[in-house]
Amino acid sequence: MTSNPSFQPAHTTPVDLAERSYDIHIGPDLLRHAGHVLKTLSAGARALIISDSHVFEHHGHTLVQSLEDDAIAYETHVVTPGEPSKSWQPLQEIVDKALSMRLERGDVIIAFGGGVIGDLAGFAAAITLRGVRLIQIPTSLLAQVDSSVGGKTGINARQGKNLIGAFYQPLAVLADTHVLDTLPAREFRAGFAEVIKYGLINDAAFFTWLETHRHAIFEGGSQRAEAIARCCRAKANIVAEDEREKGRRALLNLGHTFGHALEGLCHYDGSKLVHGEGVALGMVMAFAFSQEMGLASKDDLARIITLLKASGLPVHPSEHLSEAVTAEQMMHFMLQDKKVSKGSLTLILARGIGHSFIARDVDQGKVSDFLTRFLAHHTAV
Ligand SMILES: NC(=O)c1ccc[n+]([C@@H]2O[C@H](COP(=O)([O-])OP(=O)(O)OC[C@H]3O[C@@H](n4cnc5c(N)ncnc54)[C@H](O)[C@@H]3O)[C@@H](O)[C@H]2O)c1
Ligand SMILES: [Zn+2]
Repeated sequence: MTSNPSFQPAHTTPVDLAERSYDIHIGPDLLRHAGHVLKTLSAGARALIISDSHVFEHHGHTLVQSLEDDAIAYETHVVTPGEPSKSWQPLQEIVDKALSMRLERGDVIIAFGGGVIGDLAGFAAAITLRGVRLIQIPTSLLAQVDSSVGGKTGINARQGKNLIGAFYQPLAVLADTHVLDTLPAREFRAGFAEVIKYGLINDAAFFTWLETHRHAIFEGGSQRAEAIARCCRAKANIVAEDEREKGRRALLNLGHTFGHALEGLCHYDGSKLVHGEGVALGMVMAFAFSQEMGLASKDDLARIITLLKASGLPVHPSEHLSEAVTAEQMMHFMLQDKKVSKGSLTLILARGIGHSFIARDVDQGKVSDFLTRFLAHHTAV
C-alpha cells in the first residue's frame, strides 16, 4: 500500500489469519487516506458508509472528501447513536439499503463509528450476499483497541447481548487516533479500562509503561498511537491463535464476568455504568479475588487501583452506583452469562499483573463469599 507516498501510518499491525489476514493501520490523520486504502484493496469498488450521527457530524466530511478525492462512488446510511441500534430493525435497514443500491460482493461496507457501528455494520457485511467486503474505521478508543480487531460482529437479542452474529474479518482496519479528540471524556476513560486490561492479561511491562504515560495517552501524543498499537498487537496475537474462542481468547474476558453482572444489574443503562467502567470494577474484583485465593499480591492490587483511579475509573461499586449491589444479585447474573457452560463458573484470575489465566470450575461458594465481603466494604482495599 505504498502508491500514495503520504500514507504513512505510525503503526501497522498484521492480523495473521491465513487467507483472511489483514492489516490494522494506526496513527493520526489516517481518515483522509480512507479512499486510498479502499482503492488499493478493492479497485473499482463502490462503498456504503455506515455511521452514527455523532460520528458522522464530527468526521463524516473528512471520510467523504477522501472517497471523492479517489473518485469512489458511495452512499451513506446514518443510524441513531447507542446500543439499541444493535438490533434487527437497523440491521434490516442497512441490508435493504445495500441491496437497493445493488452492492456487489466486491463492493465495500465501511463501518465508521464506535463498537456499536462496527458490530452492526460488520454483521450486515457478513450476511449481505453471503458476504460483501468490509473496512472497519473505528472511532472510539474501545473500538480501536478491542471491537474492531478479531472479527466478532453481531446484534443484541431480546434474550441477551451479542447473541446473534458472525465471525467476519475486514479487509483492513483504519484507526485514526485524532478522531478520538471528539470522543466524550467518559467514553475515552471507559476505553482506557480495556487498554489497561491488556497489561493485566499478559504484559506487565506494558502496565508499567501505562503508569508512566497515562497522561500523554489522554492528551493524544505519539504515546496514544503507541498504546493503541500495542493493544491491537496483543489482541491480534490472541485472535490468530484462537479465532473462534475455543481457548486462549477467553483471556480477553478479564474483568468481564463481574463487569457484565454489574452492567446487567444496571439494565445496561449507560448513564449509570458504561461497559468500560464495568470492566474496571470487574478487573479489581478479579484481582481482589485472586489475592484472597493467595494467587496475586496486595501490592499488585494496589497498583491496579491506583492506575484506575488516576484514570478517572471506578474501583468499587458503592463509590459509583447509587443503589447497593449484593453478592446474590451478582451471582445470579454471573451464572446466566453465555460463557457459563453446564453451571460451571469460568473466571479469568491472575497470579499477578501480566499473569492472568483461565480458571475453570471455580467454586461458586468461594466467589459468593468473596463478593459478600468485597461489597460490604465501601472501598476496594
Ligand atoms: N466485536 C467485539 O469484539 C466487541 C468487543 C468489545 C465491545 N463490543 C461492542 O462494542 C459496543 C461498545 O462500543 P463503544 O464503546 O465504542 O460504543 P458506541 O459505539 O456506542 O460509542 C460510544 C459513544 O461515542 C460516540 N462516538 C464514537 N466515536 C466518536 C468520536 N470519535 N467522536 C464523538 N463521539 C463518538 C458514539 O456516537 C456513542 O455515542 C458494545 O455494543 C459492545 O458489545 C464488541
Ligand atoms: Zn470489553
